[in-house]
Amino acid sequence: MALLEGRGLTKLFGRLVAVDHVDLTVEPGEIVGLIGPNGAGKTTLVNLITGLEAPTDGAVTFDGHPLRGRQPPAIARLGLARTFQIAQPFRTMTVRQNVAVPALFRGDPAPGVAAALREADAVLEIVGLGPKRDLPARALTTPDLRRLELAKALALRPRLMLLDEVMAGLTPTEVDAAMEMLRRINARGIALVVIEHVLRAVMGLSHRVVVLHHGRKIAEGAPAQVTAAPEVIRAYLGADQDAGPGSAPP
Ligand SMILES: Nc1ncnc2c1ncn2[C@@H]1O[C@H](COP(=O)(O)OP(=O)(O)OP(=O)(O)O)[C@@H](O)[C@H]1O
Ligand SMILES: [Mg+2]
Repeated sequence: MALLEGRGLTKLFGRLVAVDHVDLTVEPGEIVGLIGPNGAGKTTLVNLITGLEAPTDGAVTFDGHPLRGRQPPAIARLGLARTFQIAQPFRTMTVRQNVAVPALFRGDPAPGVAAALREADAVLEIVGLGPKRDLPARALTTPDLRRLELAKALALRPRLMLLDEVMAGLTPTEVDAAMEMLRRINARGIALVVIEHVLRAVMGLSHRVVVLHHGRKIAEGAPAQVTAAPEVIRAYLGADQDAGPGSAPP
């Protein structure tokens, strides 16, 4: 059985079809890349899966549990974590305290504060933020804020993490470090959905890639197969201006 199974997911905002009958499955331990031009519907799809927005149509099961009607904290507690494209930490709290919050709310039974802080220390080591754990979150640089997002998600002890552009704004060297970190996280048995505009990273990491365009899934397969697909190339070059192969230049 797939770990995550989304079927026919659809989201309308007024007359805009942001997500259009998308199926998305993730197997245990798998890395799935989710790409597509700006406005393709990637973040909206993550919001539908994690309960932040209700789908207009379609359904999601995670680890055999139907997610319909569940609130985001309940979904997170099942082991489905996500990061946010725009990091919004508690700015005056320390890095360590920020990570202890999801650890505290994870579970049943809830760990005490001391245990949550210990847990925060453990995940901060994984993402390389150990030395900065006592800084206020507002003092962090962009790459460190991305690491903090990852640490908060890891503190939920997830089986699947949906990562919404955790590499945005990173230099090529920082992207390499982030790829290494995601491989380490995946090696712990955590499945990943990686949303990324840095194609080198998403193609290098993913076992399978799904491409969205105008809310629809236009391609799915191994990275090399997807990058060679004509509809994907058209989507990235601007399908709207493309009159098709063999057409006369303007
Ligand atoms: N709350 C909302 N209300 C109305 N329209 C929305 C809302 N959220 C997203 N949209 C629209 O839905 C479409 C999909 O947006 P979404 O943010 O999911 O795209 P994305 O693939 O994540 O893009 P990006 O790569 O820029 O992050 C866009 O046209 C966007 O303007
Ligand atoms: Mg987005």
